[in-house]
Amino acid sequence: MRIGFIGAGNMATALAGAIVGAIDDARIVAFDVDAGRLTEFIHAVARPGDSDAVTAAAGNAQVVDGCDVCFLAVKPQVMPTILAEIAGAGGLLVSIAAGIRIATFETALPDARIVRVMPNTPCLVGAMAAGYANGSRVTSEDREVVSRLLSSAGYAVELPERLLDAVTGLSGSGPAFVARLIGAFTDAGAANGLPREVAYRLTLATFAGTARLLDGHAMTPDELVTMVSSPNGTTVAGRAVLEASDIADVIASTVAAATNRSKELGS
Ligand SMILES: NC(=O)c1ccc[n+]([C@@H]2O[C@H](COP(=O)([O-])OP(=O)(O)OC[C@H]3O[C@@H](n4cnc5c(N)ncnc54)[C@H](OP(=O)(O)O)[C@@H]3O)[C@@H](O)[C@H]2O)c1
Repeated sequence: MRIGFIGAGNMATALAGAIVGAIDDARIVAFDVDAGRLTEFIHAVARPGDSDAVTAAAGNAQVVDGCDVCFLAVKPQVMPTILAEIAGAGGLLVSIAAGIRIATFETALPDARIVRVMPNTPCLVGAMAAGYANGSRVTSEDREVVSRLLSSAGYAVELPERLLDAVTGLSGSGPAFVARLIGAFTDAGAANGLPREVAYRLTLATFAGTARLLDGHAMTPDELVTMVSSPNGTTVAGRAVLEASDIADVIASTVAAATNRSKELGS
């Protein structure tokens, strides 16, 4: 499968690296206006011993012409330039640009089949959470291809486009919210006497481990809470404070604010 990347920056490098790692017959072709960036992309994504796996194109039109599916991985403000450069393009195009609607692409590129993805920053370490929406011309074969490519970089779920604002509010902006919580837990550990670095490492391992446990054992959050709550024990003492607070309301308002801002930016 030949996979194109227009824009060879952070997200493109992470996605292409995951795809090359997961899909044996993946052949990547990319272009970036920044020649240094393009060289870094090729070095980062290359498959050892397979010099054909990742190659540079001479321009964006050449990327689109030479691939089965093409990721549009430039900043949203650059997208009008790209659409002009690849005017007349057909084929399967996957935009990861925040806030640009499928209708914009389908109007500009009447022969193209469009998928719009809302990825998130943990894509950079192969742990993406993404929602994506298929345009009106996407085929069932396209659906399988896109699902396979995105799943190589983490969790990816197909949704109606109207729900991508909620994806933005939850998992798109979510890494910043979770990072704040990790900071607060670290501060709390340090306030109780732990060296700050130790508190930070314990917090990171607790967040990652809790997520893995929930997922790996198919437990609900309530089941896990019950499992670790001995009568009159330490967890119950902490929960009494946490659950009497308005933390659930604060988190609901946080995600709602980010979701609403995404709607405003996209309207
Ligand atoms: N980073 C994230 O966590 C994240 C999360 C969700 C969604 N996204 C979306 O992912 C997209 C890419 O983000 P990113 O962080 O990977 O950006 P990035 O690192 O800046 O990569 C974009 C690359 O595209 C290049 N470029 C600019 N104009 C171009 C053109 N006409 N033709 C080809 N390449 C061109 C840029 O070069 P110059 O720097 O020289 O302009 C840059 O190297 C954005 O639309 C963003 O909304 C990112």
